[in-house]
Amino acid sequence: PPPHPTDLVIFGGTGDLSMRKLLPSLYLLDRDGHLEERTRVVAASRNGLTDADLRDKADAAIRGHNAVQVVEPEVMRRFLGRLSHVNIDVGGDPTGWADLADALTPGHDRVFYLAVPPMISGALCRGLRDADLVTPESRVVMEKPLGRDLASSQEINDEVGAVFDESRIYRIDHYLGKETVQNLLVLRFANVLLEPLWNSRWIDHVQITVAETVGVGGRRGYYETSGAMRDMVQNHLLQLLCLTAMEPPSAYDRDAVRDEKLKVLRALRPLTGESVAEHTVRGRYTSGTVRGEEVLGYLDEAGGPAVSDTETFVALKAEVANWRWSGVPFYLRTGKRMSHARSEIVVRFKDVPHTIFPGAASLPGAGALVIRLQPDEGIHLTMPAKVPGAGTLRLRPVPLELSFADTFATRSPEAYERLLRDVLAGDPTLFIRRDEVEAAWNWVDPIIRAWDELGPAPEPYPAGGPGPEGARRLVGSTGRTWHEEENPR
Ligand code: BG6
Repeated sequence: PPPHPTDLVIFGGTGDLSMRKLLPSLYLLDRDGHLEERTRVVAASRNGLTDADLRDKADAAIRGHNAVQVVEPEVMRRFLGRLSHVNIDVGGDPTGWADLADALTPGHDRVFYLAVPPMISGALCRGLRDADLVTPESRVVMEKPLGRDLASSQEINDEVGAVFDESRIYRIDHYLGKETVQNLLVLRFANVLLEPLWNSRWIDHVQITVAETVGVGGRRGYYETSGAMRDMVQNHLLQLLCLTAMEPPSAYDRDAVRDEKLKVLRALRPLTGESVAEHTVRGRYTSGTVRGEEVLGYLDEAGGPAVSDTETFVALKAEVANWRWSGVPFYLRTGKRMSHARSEIVVRFKDVPHTIFPGAASLPGAGALVIRLQPDEGIHLTMPAKVPGAGTLRLRPVPLELSFADTFATRSPEAYERLLRDVLAGDPTLFIRRDEVEAAWNWVDPIIRAWDELGPAPEPYPAGGPGPEGARRLVGSTGRTWHEEENPR
């Protein structure tokens, strides 16, 4: 169905997320014809901008975005014409709500995007309700982090849930908007090749890596309250694990997909107390050189104390305790200031039970399916091949390669384009349901608690390197290696 005219209100509309991601993505949707002609965007903030100020700021942000490339003046004019600013200070300025009411158009759908710290989500939702701005079709979008543990996420979910029905709450995990992440489902469930092998009988282990070269940058203050576990593992990495491990859903729809993900989260074997020290590694970057640039260590970054226990790296071994996956480790790993930006899921198949080629019993790096999320989105399968030559038979792993950029001439949309489009269309399939967020916290909480109580403190690792030594030991203790050690770039 054609999208309904909508008023999209972004609380925190002049902030970092809005300028870096939301407005550029909305511009791209507009350019590609996906915004209904009458759809409006209202940026709500407490910094007193005029509409003209907001448009200037948005114009600069859109031009500076790397997915935009060439700005089409006509599209820019049309898009900026959709924008307006309303001043709202939750707790203060009671007139703001009346101004917001004036900015909304009767008959339009309403989407309230909460790009604000989660602890004010409840107050904003109550403000909307008390000002009578919530219509039956209204939707609300929430960003991570959703709380800092199970209890606080329940509190936020209760407060927002008192105003919006669960079916109207869109919790974003932008990893689900990434093209390759959706392709993972297609890869698994649109052919019969992989599914028969997708279990503990044929798969040795799975590695999920999200490595970044960036540091915490201007977000030291936020990072102090979060750390890599809450910032990345609780949401992005666990979602990737769910999509890799879940059973085939009966349909590609909101309930079927999310029900299956939830079952995976609930099947995660709890890590508590002593097992945390054995199966998890935390790290924190020190100064170093990343892609030729000298960078500060985490503790020297501005905006936080010089002594801290916050981690910027986590590696852990998870287990999905069910029939399909019993005994198959899922190694999850994420870190900032690593040598390469590299996000991938590696499914390592078992070695052949018997080899007829001498010396090829366990060929390093062979028999792996690699789903590269970024950069160079693609999928490759490493297979053993015979090295040409009439001499002694030699085998070497070679990749069967699918590169999305080479295969499809079209650009991959930004994750936020996909997700904003889904919100405007009212499709929550790629958003996180309350029970999922809570199941994820339920698994993560005891790990953080054990770290707080028993340590260990984060292990220092130099910026620009492969991460803490402990991560290598985590897989190495079972004779395995991280994928890039066998396949350096
Ligand atoms: C965010 C985290 O959710 O994801 C950031 O808060 C992280 O710390 C970012 O850098 C990574 O997203 P992407 O899309 O660049 O992989």
